[in-house]
Amino acid sequence: MEVVVIGAGYVGLTTGACLAQMGHSVTCVDIDADRVTDLREGRMPIFEPGLDELARSMSMAGQLHFSAQMSLPLSRAELVLIAVGTPSAADGAIDLTHVEAAVRECARGVRAGTPLVIKSTVVPGTAARLHRLLEQESRPVPVASNPEFLREGSAIGDFCDADRIVIGADEPRSAQVLERLYAPLVARGIPLVSTDTVSAELIKYSANAFLALKIAFINDIADLCEAVGGDITEVANGIGLDGRIGSAFLSPGPGFGGSCFPKDTRALAAMAASRGRRQELVERAIASNDRRRRKIAEQVLRHLEPGGPDRRVAILGCAFKANTDDVREAAALSVVPRLVDAGITVTLHDPRPPRFPPRELDGATWCSTPYAAAENADVVVILTEWDEYRQLDLRRLAGRCRQRRILDYRNLYDPDDVAAAGFDYVSVGRAAVRARTAFTRGGRLRASAAAAPST
Ligand code: NAD
Ligand code: UGA
Repeated sequence: MEVVVIGAGYVGLTTGACLAQMGHSVTCVDIDADRVTDLREGRMPIFEPGLDELARSMSMAGQLHFSAQMSLPLSRAELVLIAVGTPSAADGAIDLTHVEAAVRECARGVRAGTPLVIKSTVVPGTAARLHRLLEQESRPVPVASNPEFLREGSAIGDFCDADRIVIGADEPRSAQVLERLYAPLVARGIPLVSTDTVSAELIKYSANAFLALKIAFINDIADLCEAVGGDITEVANGIGLDGRIGSAFLSPGPGFGGSCFPKDTRALAAMAASRGRRQELVERAIASNDRRRRKIAEQVLRHLEPGGPDRRVAILGCAFKANTDDVREAAALSVVPRLVDAGITVTLHDPRPPRFPPRELDGATWCSTPYAAAENADVVVILTEWDEYRQLDLRRLAGRCRQRRILDYRNLYDPDDVAAAGFDYVSVGRAAVRARTAFTRGGRLRASAAAAPST
């Protein structure tokens, strides 16, 4: 099938490459001409495991093309998937400017009857509203919905082995074309949910909101563990084994970030409130997540000598989660500016630093290794669960630090191991532990035992 994907970002590129692998002929169109040039020359604008190889091999096989021009690919398209960004507007509602612009432009370029399918996450009613708008403008093009559920960091696997495919159409032709598009995946047993556009759009928001609620819940229980002395790892395991609850999305941490949960929960809450159906659970989860974010920097400051000279903090992990270079709404973006404002020297490491670091990280110094970041640090703060950090040589790290304290917001280590390596260790929802071995730079001095540090 001749497919055009509008927007060559995390979703558009993954979708394009995976559909090409399924045998479709795909053109990814993006308004960012530099991005298109990079893609044509085999350079990926983003880091997503496996995408580089897949996109390059599909391009070489002639199945995947990149273009900054819409008109020619659109004129041949049997189906157009729109995967442009839908950022938050200032009031938390969704900004549909890019989707609307793309839909209008595509409607002018496609042959009559070619479905325009919105893959971007949009508030319920968007596809139907845009369809009516096009009708009023005498351009009666069907507008359908096909929300995407992939996660960054595991996007290709999530797309090709999806839990389900959701298609929303208000007339039979779009549904048929979408069924044809996904036939190779459905043949492998992936369930297809075929519904109307509003329900499809609601499925997407409800799924993200539910997962965000799960994370907010486990973070609240982690706080309770700290207060009453429980261990969140045991608690999450104990509840997750209940099949009705499930063990996924029960990892406590610095609060959910990224380009989707924060913006999609805000958009759902704003939309529901505007329709007189406030989603109070979702509103509470947003507020509790925001509070959690603000609390991190204050916790870090509490572990530093008040007003001491040249206080230094090493931040390990800027991405909002592991295996991506995406820093949108990442914890580091709220922690770094607060520390810098408080006069702290902040060093920063990430295995995949963003190509264009956001201004929130301006006051910090990037380092090429976690050990370099930890040089003379008073506190090491772990914000992203990269495997590279799980495998750190903690004794080597201890030798670099001025004060040996780790605040681990991803629970990467066994507390005993960290204490044995000479660190005071504070993690999430587990008892804090004191260093069991005291070090000077480069050498062990003596074994020690003391009370746990405060969280
Ligand atoms: P992104 O910012 O990575 O990419 C969007 C791309 O669209 C950019 O390259 C931009 O230049 C391009 N673009 C904008 N307007 C355009 C236009 N008129 N014509 C052509 N190109 C245009 O965004 P993303 O993370 O891929 O997200 C896209 C949508 O998918 C959002 O609605 C998001 O909520 C949703 N989504 C994202 C994920 C994810 O993991 N990132 C997962 C599921 C759904
Ligand atoms: C999320 C959803 O998981 C995808 O299904 C959805 O398609 C996507 O949003 C979207 O709509 O864009 P993503 O944001 O890529 O995917 O990553 P997640 O793995 O869901 O993580 C989101 C945030 O929650 C991260 O900050 C992560 O660290 C945090 N998280 C996740 C936790 O704190 N605990 C967990 O148990 C899981």
